[in-house]
Amino acid sequence: MAAISAALGSVLRTGDAVVAHTVLYGCTHSLFANWYSRLGIEVRRVDMKQPERLERAIDAKTRVVYLETPANPNLELIDLAATRAAIERANAGRPEDRPVILVVDNTFATPFCQRPIEFGADVVVHSLTKNLGGFGTDMGGAVIAAEEFLRDLLLYRKDFGGVLSSKSAWAILVYGLPTLTLRLKRQQYTAGKVASFLEGHPLVRRVVYPGLASFPQRELAARQMRDFDGDFAPGNMIYFLLDEKKADPIRFSDAIGAEAYSVTLAVSLGHAKTLLEMPGAMTHSSYEGESLGFERGGVRLSIGLESPKDICRDLGRALEASRRKVAVRSSR
Ligand SMILES: Cc1ncc(COP(=O)(O)O)c(C=O)c1O
Repeated sequence: MAAISAALGSVLRTGDAVVAHTVLYGCTHSLFANWYSRLGIEVRRVDMKQPERLERAIDAKTRVVYLETPANPNLELIDLAATRAAIERANAGRPEDRPVILVVDNTFATPFCQRPIEFGADVVVHSLTKNLGGFGTDMGGAVIAAEEFLRDLLLYRKDFGGVLSSKSAWAILVYGLPTLTLRLKRQQYTAGKVASFLEGHPLVRRVVYPGLASFPQRELAARQMRDFDGDFAPGNMIYFLLDEKKADPIRFSDAIGAEAYSVTLAVSLGHAKTLLEMPGAMTHSSYEGESLGFERGGVRLSIGLESPKDICRDLGRALEASRRKVAVRSSR
């Protein structure tokens, strides 16, 4: 969050506006909803799956377009090239010193699966706490941008104090980055197996994983998510919904917490361990009382390095434990 705060805070002034996608990580949502309103920075939320909506939302006050792709938690994708084209059209009539800039949080994909600058992003942010650190032992963030942003970024970091600890930087550079490709390749392979298992389970209503043939934005995923060799790289995150007429999501997550041995009920993602959480109640609880843009009963799964068979066995047992004794109408 220090990286996101610095990337945005070093550009924005009171009176400016941000256009952001509807679905974002809960703390980024809270930063916009609870803090930017105090600073007199307006944040407009639009569904950027439709670039024409973005274009309509940009006006003279807009300085930043902000998005995650895949978005946390429901993995919807935003077309980066189409977003860039919309921004270019908006920038054509603006003063040269006030262009709209595109800031992309690439935490879910990692640079292994997607490099937004190649599609026209000006600034990319990453949580190093996740796949780049890779082991869940250290916290940090990174901002990747052209040199013209550097001076203000460094000043912001110094004056607000969100400085990466040198000990964490060491672990991320020595253990995290050199093993990124190895971990992601294995996690992607496992994610494919787990997503297929869930898709075939009678208590699961829908599985969202960019590697599945059923993924609604499959063509965009294939175009945008590519590894360093150019191969399709759908990542290690899965989002799924239980059939709530037959299964209770709370009983499911309780069973994971109490019984599973290869899946941990916890927030965070991109670790060696497989982590499962309920965004509506955990990472995205700051959306409380607001329209979510994603389903409150959804389950987010970050695939780790365990065997796919062990992960599927744990998920299968927890699904059985979540089965309702008496069928109910959907509680959503
Ligand atoms: C997409 C995304 N961006 C940013 C963050 C913030 O990362 P950190 O916890 O390292 O501040 C998270 C954390 O879950 C995230 O999922």
